[in-house]
Amino acid sequence: MFYPVIRKALFQLDPEHAHEFTFRHLRRISGTPLQHFIHQNVPDRPVTCMGLTFKNPLGLAAGLDKDGECIDALGAMGFGAIEVGTVTPKPQPGNDRPRLFRIVSAEGLINRMGFNNLGVDNLVENIKKTRFQGIIGVNIGKNKLTPVEQGKDDYLICMDKVYSHAGYIAINISSPNTPGLRTLQYGDALDDLLKAIKLKQNELNIKHNKYVPIAVKIAPDLSEEELIQIADSLVRHNIDGVIATNTTLDRGSIIGLKNSEQSGGLSGRPLRDKSTAVITRLASELNGQLPIIGVGGIDSVDTAKEKLAAGATLLQIYSGFIFKGPGLVKEIVTGL
Ligand SMILES: Cc1cc2nc3c(=O)[nH]c(=O)nc-3n(C[C@H](O)[C@H](O)[C@H](O)COP(=O)(O)O)c2cc1C
Repeated sequence: MFYPVIRKALFQLDPEHAHEFTFRHLRRISGTPLQHFIHQNVPDRPVTCMGLTFKNPLGLAAGLDKDGECIDALGAMGFGAIEVGTVTPKPQPGNDRPRLFRIVSAEGLINRMGFNNLGVDNLVENIKKTRFQGIIGVNIGKNKLTPVEQGKDDYLICMDKVYSHAGYIAINISSPNTPGLRTLQYGDALDDLLKAIKLKQNELNIKHNKYVPIAVKIAPDLSEEELIQIADSLVRHNIDGVIATNTTLDRGSIIGLKNSEQSGGLSGRPLRDKSTAVITRLASELNGQLPIIGVGGIDSVDTAKEKLAAGATLLQIYSGFIFKGPGLVKEIVTGL
Protein backbone atom coordinates (compact mmCIF):
# COMPACT_ATOMS: atom_id res chain seq x y z
CA MET A 1 0.00 0.00 0.00
CA PHE A 2 2.84 2.37 0.93
CA TYR A 3 5.28 1.10 -1.66
CA PRO A 4 4.69 3.82 -4.28
CA VAL A 5 5.81 6.39 -1.69
CA ILE A 6 8.76 4.30 -0.51
CA ARG A 7 9.75 3.62 -4.10
CA LYS A 8 9.70 7.30 -4.96
CA ALA A 9 12.14 7.98 -2.12
CA LEU A 10 14.34 4.98 -2.90
CA PHE A 11 14.47 5.86 -6.59
CA GLN A 12 15.98 9.25 -5.67
CA LEU A 13 19.03 7.27 -4.55
CA ASP A 14 21.61 5.58 -6.69
CA PRO A 15 20.27 1.99 -7.18
CA GLU A 16 22.95 0.26 -5.15
CA HIS A 17 22.62 2.77 -2.31
CA ALA A 18 18.87 2.19 -2.33
CA HIS A 19 19.54 -1.55 -2.07
CA GLU A 20 22.01 -1.08 0.80
CA PHE A 21 19.67 1.29 2.62
CA THR A 22 16.77 -1.18 2.35
CA PHE A 23 18.91 -4.13 3.39
CA ARG A 24 20.30 -2.26 6.40
CA HIS A 25 16.74 -1.93 7.68
CA LEU A 26 15.64 -5.41 6.69
CA ARG A 27 18.70 -6.88 8.43
CA ARG A 28 17.72 -5.10 11.63
CA ILE A 29 14.23 -6.55 11.72
CA SER A 30 14.97 -9.93 10.15
CA GLY A 31 14.20 -12.67 12.67
CA THR A 32 12.88 -10.21 15.29
CA PRO A 33 9.26 -9.44 16.33
CA LEU A 34 9.50 -6.24 14.23
CA GLN A 35 9.24 -8.50 11.22
CA HIS A 36 5.54 -8.49 11.95
CA PHE A 37 5.31 -5.08 10.20
CA ILE A 38 6.33 -6.49 6.84
CA HIS A 39 4.57 -9.82 7.24
CA GLN A 40 2.03 -10.60 4.53
CA ASN A 41 -0.60 -13.29 4.77
CA VAL A 42 -0.32 -15.22 1.56
CA PRO A 43 -2.57 -18.18 0.76
CA ASP A 44 -1.08 -21.65 0.58
CA ARG A 45 -0.64 -22.86 -2.98
CA PRO A 46 1.53 -25.95 -2.46
CA VAL A 47 3.57 -27.21 -5.38
CA THR A 48 5.80 -30.27 -5.47
CA CYS A 49 8.90 -29.83 -7.57
CA MET A 50 12.30 -31.58 -7.60
CA GLY A 51 10.95 -33.78 -4.79
CA LEU A 52 10.38 -30.76 -2.52
CA THR A 53 7.10 -29.22 -1.42
CA PHE A 54 7.00 -25.45 -1.89
CA LYS A 55 4.23 -23.69 0.04
CA ASN A 56 3.61 -21.60 -3.07
CA PRO A 57 5.28 -21.46 -6.49
CA LEU A 58 6.77 -17.96 -6.17
CA GLY A 59 10.38 -17.62 -5.12
CA LEU A 60 12.82 -14.76 -4.79
CA ALA A 61 15.45 -14.99 -7.55
CA ALA A 62 19.17 -15.10 -6.79
CA GLY A 63 21.22 -11.95 -6.42
CA LEU A 64 19.04 -9.84 -4.12
CA ASP A 65 20.13 -11.51 -0.87
CA LYS A 66 23.51 -12.78 -1.98
CA ASP A 67 24.80 -13.40 1.55
CA GLY A 68 21.57 -14.67 3.09
CA GLU A 69 21.34 -11.73 5.48
CA CYS A 70 17.58 -11.15 5.33
CA ILE A 71 16.07 -14.58 4.70
CA ASP A 72 13.55 -14.28 7.55
CA ALA A 73 12.41 -10.78 6.58
CA LEU A 74 12.07 -11.67 2.91
CA GLY A 75 10.34 -14.90 3.87
CA ALA A 76 7.82 -12.93 5.94
CA MET A 77 6.72 -11.24 2.72
CA GLY A 78 5.27 -14.55 1.57
CA PHE A 79 7.77 -16.13 -0.81
CA GLY A 80 7.57 -19.91 -1.11
CA ALA A 81 11.33 -20.02 -1.62
CA ILE A 82 14.28 -17.69 -1.22
CA GLU A 83 17.27 -18.29 -3.46
CA VAL A 84 20.34 -16.83 -1.79
CA GLY A 85 23.69 -16.25 -3.53
CA THR A 86 25.37 -16.30 -5.89
CA VAL A 87 28.14 -17.13 -3.44
CA THR A 88 31.68 -18.14 -4.27
CA PRO A 89 34.24 -20.09 -2.20
CA LYS A 90 36.15 -16.94 -1.23
CA PRO A 91 34.68 -13.49 -0.53
CA GLN A 92 35.13 -11.05 -3.41
CA PRO A 93 34.26 -7.37 -3.94
CA GLY A 94 32.67 -7.64 -7.37
CA ASN A 95 33.12 -5.07 -10.12
CA ASP A 96 33.76 -1.35 -9.64
CA ARG A 97 30.80 0.91 -8.94
CA PRO A 98 28.55 2.10 -10.42
CA ARG A 99 27.40 -1.35 -11.48
CA LEU A 100 23.61 -1.27 -11.15
CA PHE A 101 21.34 0.89 -13.31
CA ARG A 102 17.60 1.43 -13.66
CA ILE A 103 15.86 1.72 -16.99
CA VAL A 104 12.87 3.29 -15.32
CA SER A 105 10.51 3.76 -18.25
CA ALA A 106 10.93 0.12 -19.30
CA GLU A 107 10.94 -1.21 -15.72
CA GLY A 108 14.26 -2.90 -16.36
CA LEU A 109 17.60 -3.11 -14.58
CA ILE A 110 21.11 -3.53 -15.90
CA ASN A 111 23.65 -4.98 -13.52
CA ARG A 112 27.30 -5.88 -13.72
CA MET A 113 27.73 -6.64 -10.02
CA GLY A 114 30.20 -9.49 -10.63
CA PHE A 115 29.30 -11.80 -7.74
CA ASN A 116 30.07 -9.38 -4.91
CA ASN A 117 29.67 -11.61 -1.86
CA LEU A 118 31.15 -12.40 1.54
CA GLY A 119 31.94 -16.01 0.67
CA VAL A 120 30.27 -19.33 1.20
CA ASP A 121 31.25 -19.80 4.88
CA ASN A 122 29.53 -16.56 5.87
CA LEU A 123 26.41 -17.58 3.96
CA VAL A 124 26.25 -20.93 5.75
CA GLU A 125 26.42 -19.18 9.13
CA ASN A 126 23.53 -16.93 8.10
CA ILE A 127 21.42 -19.86 6.91
CA LYS A 128 21.99 -21.63 10.23
CA LYS A 129 20.36 -18.67 12.02
CA THR A 130 17.20 -18.46 9.92
CA ARG A 131 13.78 -19.62 11.01
CA PHE A 132 12.22 -19.34 7.55
CA GLN A 133 9.83 -22.25 6.97
CA GLY A 134 9.99 -22.14 3.18
CA ILE A 135 12.61 -23.59 0.88
CA ILE A 136 16.08 -22.05 0.78
CA GLY A 137 17.86 -22.43 -2.53
CA VAL A 138 21.58 -21.75 -2.55
CA ASN A 139 22.99 -20.38 -5.79
CA ILE A 140 26.71 -21.04 -6.24
CA GLY A 141 29.35 -19.78 -8.65
CA LYS A 142 33.07 -19.47 -9.15
CA ASN A 143 35.45 -16.77 -7.96
CA LYS A 144 36.53 -14.28 -10.61
CA LEU A 145 40.21 -15.15 -10.08
CA THR A 146 39.65 -18.89 -10.53
CA PRO A 147 40.51 -19.74 -14.14
CA VAL A 148 37.41 -21.00 -15.92
CA GLU A 149 39.14 -24.34 -16.62
CA GLN A 150 39.28 -24.86 -12.84
CA GLY A 151 35.82 -23.39 -12.25
CA LYS A 152 34.46 -26.85 -11.50
CA ASP A 153 36.52 -26.98 -8.29
CA ASP A 154 34.80 -23.83 -6.99
CA TYR A 155 31.34 -25.34 -7.54
CA LEU A 156 32.40 -28.53 -5.72
CA ILE A 157 33.85 -26.57 -2.78
CA CYS A 158 30.59 -24.62 -2.46
CA MET A 159 28.49 -27.80 -2.76
CA ASP A 160 30.42 -29.44 0.07
CA LYS A 161 29.79 -26.46 2.34
CA VAL A 162 26.16 -25.67 1.56
CA TYR A 163 24.75 -29.14 0.92
CA SER A 164 23.34 -29.93 4.36
CA HIS A 165 21.90 -26.38 4.71
CA ALA A 166 20.19 -26.08 1.33
CA GLY A 167 16.73 -27.07 0.14
CA TYR A 168 18.15 -27.11 -3.39
CA ILE A 169 21.39 -25.95 -4.97
CA ALA A 170 21.43 -23.74 -8.07
CA ILE A 171 24.45 -23.92 -10.34
CA ASN A 172 24.96 -20.52 -11.89
CA ILE A 173 26.77 -20.83 -15.22
CA SER A 174 24.92 -17.97 -16.86
CA SER A 175 25.95 -14.69 -15.25
CA PRO A 176 27.30 -12.39 -17.95
CA ASN A 177 29.45 -10.53 -15.43
CA THR A 178 32.10 -13.13 -14.62
CA PRO A 179 34.46 -13.44 -17.59
CA GLY A 180 34.23 -16.86 -19.25
CA LEU A 181 31.49 -18.20 -16.96
CA ARG A 182 28.94 -18.67 -19.73
CA THR A 183 31.34 -20.93 -21.66
CA LEU A 184 30.49 -23.59 -19.05
CA GLN A 185 27.08 -23.85 -20.72
CA TYR A 186 28.46 -25.56 -23.81
CA GLY A 187 29.60 -28.99 -25.01
CA ASP A 188 32.32 -30.88 -23.15
CA ALA A 189 32.75 -28.13 -20.53
CA LEU A 190 29.10 -28.53 -19.52
CA ASP A 191 29.21 -32.33 -19.56
CA ASP A 192 32.37 -32.37 -17.52
CA LEU A 193 30.91 -29.96 -14.93
CA LEU A 194 27.56 -31.75 -14.64
CA LYS A 195 29.25 -35.12 -14.28
CA ALA A 196 31.39 -33.84 -11.40
CA ILE A 197 28.41 -32.16 -9.75
CA LYS A 198 26.32 -35.30 -9.97
CA LEU A 199 29.12 -37.41 -8.47
CA LYS A 200 29.46 -34.88 -5.65
CA GLN A 201 25.69 -34.92 -5.08
CA ASN A 202 25.75 -38.73 -4.76
CA GLU A 203 28.67 -38.60 -2.34
CA LEU A 204 26.99 -35.93 -0.18
CA ASN A 205 23.64 -37.72 -0.32
CA ILE A 206 25.27 -40.75 1.30
CA LYS A 207 27.27 -38.66 3.77
CA HIS A 208 24.29 -36.57 4.99
CA ASN A 209 21.53 -39.07 4.25
CA LYS A 210 19.69 -36.25 2.48
CA TYR A 211 19.02 -35.77 -1.23
CA VAL A 212 19.44 -32.13 -2.21
CA PRO A 213 18.25 -31.46 -5.76
CA ILE A 214 20.44 -29.58 -8.21
CA ALA A 215 19.07 -26.97 -10.62
CA VAL A 216 21.16 -25.38 -13.38
CA LYS A 217 20.57 -21.72 -14.21
CA ILE A 218 20.89 -20.82 -17.87
CA ALA A 219 21.15 -17.65 -19.96
CA PRO A 220 18.48 -16.33 -22.30
CA ASP A 221 21.09 -15.61 -24.98
CA LEU A 222 21.36 -19.12 -26.43
CA SER A 223 20.75 -20.26 -29.99
CA GLU A 224 18.12 -22.93 -30.50
CA GLU A 225 20.83 -25.49 -31.15
CA GLU A 226 22.65 -24.57 -27.94
CA LEU A 227 19.43 -24.81 -25.98
CA ILE A 228 18.72 -28.28 -27.37
CA GLN A 229 22.24 -29.40 -26.46
CA ILE A 230 21.89 -28.06 -22.92
CA ALA A 231 18.53 -29.79 -22.47
CA ASP A 232 20.06 -33.04 -23.66
CA SER A 233 22.98 -32.68 -21.29
CA LEU A 234 20.73 -31.89 -18.30
CA VAL A 235 18.66 -35.01 -18.97
CA ARG A 236 21.68 -37.27 -19.54
CA HIS A 237 23.21 -36.19 -16.24
CA ASN A 238 19.96 -36.53 -14.30
CA ILE A 239 19.93 -32.91 -13.20
CA ASP A 240 16.87 -32.16 -11.06
CA GLY A 241 15.73 -28.83 -12.51
CA VAL A 242 16.58 -25.90 -14.76
CA ILE A 243 16.22 -22.21 -13.94
CA ALA A 244 15.42 -20.14 -17.01
CA THR A 245 16.62 -17.47 -17.25
CA ASN A 246 19.39 -15.23 -16.06
CA THR A 247 19.81 -11.68 -17.43
CA THR A 248 20.35 -10.87 -21.11
CA LEU A 249 23.10 -9.10 -23.03
CA ASP A 250 20.56 -8.17 -25.72
CA ARG A 251 19.56 -4.49 -25.77
CA GLY A 252 17.05 -4.75 -28.62
CA SER A 253 14.07 -3.95 -26.42
CA ILE A 254 15.53 -0.81 -24.80
CA ILE A 255 17.30 0.96 -27.66
CA GLY A 256 17.69 4.69 -26.99
CA LEU A 257 16.53 4.56 -23.39
CA LYS A 258 18.61 6.10 -20.61
CA ASN A 259 21.28 3.68 -19.32
CA SER A 260 20.64 1.22 -22.16
CA GLU A 261 24.29 1.54 -23.22
CA GLN A 262 25.58 0.29 -19.84
CA SER A 263 27.32 -3.08 -20.00
CA GLY A 264 26.00 -6.00 -17.95
CA GLY A 265 22.89 -8.14 -17.79
CA LEU A 266 19.45 -6.72 -18.48
CA SER A 267 16.48 -7.93 -16.42
CA GLY A 268 12.87 -7.02 -15.80
CA ARG A 269 10.16 -6.30 -18.31
CA PRO A 270 12.53 -5.98 -21.32
CA LEU A 271 13.69 -9.55 -20.66
CA ARG A 272 10.24 -11.04 -20.31
CA ASP A 273 9.46 -12.32 -23.81
CA LYS A 274 12.95 -13.62 -24.39
CA SER A 275 12.88 -15.64 -21.19
CA THR A 276 9.38 -16.96 -21.94
CA ALA A 277 10.57 -18.06 -25.40
CA VAL A 278 13.44 -20.00 -23.80
CA ILE A 279 11.01 -21.70 -21.39
CA THR A 280 8.64 -22.63 -24.22
CA ARG A 281 11.48 -24.15 -26.27
CA LEU A 282 12.96 -25.93 -23.25
CA ALA A 283 9.58 -27.34 -22.24
CA SER A 284 9.05 -28.88 -25.65
CA GLU A 285 12.57 -30.30 -25.63
CA LEU A 286 12.43 -31.65 -22.06
CA ASN A 287 8.95 -33.04 -22.34
CA GLY A 288 8.47 -33.14 -18.57
CA GLN A 289 11.73 -34.97 -17.88
CA LEU A 290 12.82 -32.20 -15.53
CA PRO A 291 10.99 -29.17 -14.16
CA ILE A 292 11.58 -25.58 -15.22
CA ILE A 293 11.80 -22.67 -12.79
CA GLY A 294 10.68 -19.66 -14.79
CA VAL A 295 12.22 -16.24 -14.17
CA GLY A 296 12.51 -13.06 -16.22
CA GLY A 297 10.20 -10.07 -16.26
CA ILE A 298 7.41 -11.41 -14.07
CA ASP A 299 5.62 -8.40 -12.56
CA SER A 300 1.92 -9.33 -12.40
CA VAL A 301 -0.47 -12.26 -12.16
CA ASP A 302 -0.78 -12.34 -15.95
CA THR A 303 2.95 -12.45 -16.57
CA ALA A 304 3.30 -15.14 -13.90
CA LYS A 305 0.60 -17.17 -15.65
CA GLU A 306 2.39 -16.65 -18.96
CA LYS A 307 5.48 -18.39 -17.57
CA LEU A 308 3.39 -21.27 -16.18
CA ALA A 309 1.61 -21.64 -19.52
CA ALA A 310 5.02 -21.75 -21.25
CA GLY A 311 5.95 -24.75 -19.10
CA ALA A 312 7.36 -23.48 -15.80
CA THR A 313 6.46 -25.29 -12.57
CA LEU A 314 7.93 -22.70 -10.21
CA LEU A 315 8.47 -18.97 -10.63
CA GLN A 316 10.95 -16.39 -9.39
CA ILE A 317 11.06 -12.59 -9.35
CA TYR A 318 13.74 -9.99 -8.86
CA SER A 319 13.23 -6.79 -10.90
CA GLY A 320 9.44 -6.86 -10.54
CA PHE A 321 9.96 -6.89 -6.77
CA ILE A 322 12.08 -3.72 -7.05
CA PHE A 323 9.57 -1.89 -9.24
CA LYS A 324 6.34 -3.14 -7.65
CA GLY A 325 7.38 -3.91 -4.06
CA PRO A 326 6.48 -6.70 -1.63
CA GLY A 327 2.76 -6.41 -2.47
CA LEU A 328 3.60 -8.15 -5.74
CA VAL A 329 4.30 -11.39 -3.86
CA LYS A 330 0.83 -11.44 -2.34
CA GLU A 331 -0.80 -10.29 -5.58
CA ILE A 332 0.78 -13.07 -7.63
CA VAL A 333 0.35 -15.92 -5.15
CA THR A 334 -3.26 -14.94 -4.48
CA GLY A 335 -4.01 -14.52 -8.18
CA LEU A 336 -2.67 -17.87 -9.30
C1 LIG B 1 21.13 -6.64 -9.42
C2 LIG B 1 20.97 -8.07 -9.85
C3 LIG B 1 21.85 -9.03 -9.36
C4 LIG B 1 21.71 -10.36 -9.75
N1 LIG B 1 22.58 -11.28 -9.24
C5 LIG B 1 22.42 -12.59 -9.56
C6 LIG B 1 23.26 -13.56 -9.00
O1 LIG B 1 24.13 -13.28 -8.17
N2 LIG B 1 23.08 -14.85 -9.39
C7 LIG B 1 22.11 -15.22 -10.28
O2 LIG B 1 21.98 -16.41 -10.59
N3 LIG B 1 21.29 -14.31 -10.82
C8 LIG B 1 21.42 -13.01 -10.48
N4 LIG B 1 20.57 -12.08 -11.02
C9 LIG B 1 19.56 -12.51 -12.01
C10 LIG B 1 18.20 -12.76 -11.37
O3 LIG B 1 18.26 -13.80 -10.43
C11 LIG B 1 17.15 -13.11 -12.45
O4 LIG B 1 17.53 -14.31 -13.09
C12 LIG B 1 17.03 -12.03 -13.50
O5 LIG B 1 17.12 -10.75 -12.94
C13 LIG B 1 15.70 -12.13 -14.26
O6 LIG B 1 14.60 -11.98 -13.40
P1 LIG B 1 13.81 -10.59 -13.24
O7 LIG B 1 13.48 -10.11 -14.63
O8 LIG B 1 12.60 -10.91 -12.40
O9 LIG B 1 14.75 -9.64 -12.58
C14 LIG B 1 20.68 -10.74 -10.65
C15 LIG B 1 19.80 -9.77 -11.13
C16 LIG B 1 19.92 -8.45 -10.74
C17 LIG B 1 18.95 -7.43 -11.28
